[in-house]
Amino acid sequence: MKIAVIGMGYVGLVTAVGLAESGHSVIGIDINFEKLSRLRKGDPPIYEEGLAGLLNISLTNGRLRFSSRLSESLLECEIFFIAVGTPSDSEGKADLTFVNKAVNEIAALANRPIIIVMKSTVPPGTGRWIQNQLRKISKVRISYVSCPEFLREGTAIFDYFHPSRIIIGSDDSKIAEQVSEIWDEVECEKVVTDIESAEMIKYAANAFLATKISFINEIANLCERVGAQVDDVAKGIGLDPRISPQFLKAGIGWGGSCFPKDVRALQQVANGYATNLQILSAVISINQNQRLVIIQKLKKYLNDLRGKTIAVLGLTFKPNTDDVRESAALDIIRLLMKNGANPRAYDPMGGENAKKEILSLLVCKSAASALNRVHACVLVTEWSEFYHIPWNEMKKNFIARPIVIDGRNMLDHKEMSAMGYIIDGIGRPNGGVSASSLKIIHSTP
Ligand code: UGA
Repeated sequence: MKIAVIGMGYVGLVTAVGLAESGHSVIGIDINFEKLSRLRKGDPPIYEEGLAGLLNISLTNGRLRFSSRLSESLLECEIFFIAVGTPSDSEGKADLTFVNKAVNEIAALANRPIIIVMKSTVPPGTGRWIQNQLRKISKVRISYVSCPEFLREGTAIFDYFHPSRIIIGSDDSKIAEQVSEIWDEVECEKVVTDIESAEMIKYAANAFLATKISFINEIANLCERVGAQVDDVAKGIGLDPRISPQFLKAGIGWGGSCFPKDVRALQQVANGYATNLQILSAVISINQNQRLVIIQKLKKYLNDLRGKTIAVLGLTFKPNTDDVRESAALDIIRLLMKNGANPRAYDPMGGENAKKEILSLLVCKSAASALNRVHACVLVTEWSEFYHIPWNEMKKNFIARPIVIDGRNMLDHKEMSAMGYIIDGIGRPNGGVSASSLKIIHSTP
């Protein structure tokens, strides 16, 4: 099929590359000339494992090309994916400026029946409104399909080819079938719903995952008081398939370009219908509180944070990405600065992006240099590199006591204590050592 993808951000670019790899002929459209020039050279503007390789393959076999002109794609494409950003506005609502611009341009230029596939995350009701607009402004039939995206940063290429499901929100079964054929080669359940349900599925999925994390974080904080180990608790409840072990990793809370924006937007959607989603207010406030937990822990060991040098390991909102949007690390760094401390950060990939957010941030070139002459260290992102830090050697670099606050429960606390560290995680009291560790005993039925 001949497909245009509008918006070469993380979702748009991964989708364009994935579609081309599956054999479609794809035009990637963006208004940013610098981005387009990098893409044409096979140099992706974002880091995503496997992306550069597939981009270069599709450029070489000619299945993917890039353009700044939508008009060019309208001459040859039948399907238009919209994958532009829907950032939070000042009230937390999804800002649909870029979506509307793309829809209006397509409607103005289309001269034969085409299909719009909405990949951008838009509030329930948006698709219906767009459909009405299209009927008013376009001379030809433009079908509208809502096809929410569930890719995770860091594993987006893998997720594209192995999705848990594909949701197709459409009023027209023939159009839904046509859109479903785009992913003929991808094995997963394809669920056809109405447009509003598809839009709601996207928000409900992200809100549910964020709720799961906030839930385990709140349980983690209680674990510390009652003397329970949250990792064991998570494992113990996660073995129940109704609960599942995923997204039960306690830590400093969720961040990124999606959860914070989408949870806020869903709250705003509810407000618009005079409904209060009480659970989401709690989910957000628990998440903000987790950042403060780190500061409280540092104060427990250092009393006053003024003038104290703190190594912050990790800046991205999760590992294997260079994305620092709404990252817990940035919140923690701002809180450290507010408390008069001197944070000194290191991240394998997110340093440059973090410096754009916090201009005065001192970013080191390695974990070892960030750890040189510090009062304490906070582990914020679980990069695999941090497991391999020679912690035993690093101990001497601490100004006084070697204090590590493990915001992701990633290190072996027993081992760290044995090396002489004061180590404190989230929901891991007694140095993270349980009285009797949970064991799984396999029994034959
Ligand atoms: C999330 C969803 O997982 C994707 O399905 C969705 O497509 C995407 O948002 C989106 O809407 O575009 P992503 O933002 O890449 O994907 O990141 P996640 O892997 O979901 O992690 C989000 C945050 O939760 C991270 O800060 C991570 O560290 C945190 N997290 C995750 C935890 O604190 N504990 C966990 O157990 C899992």
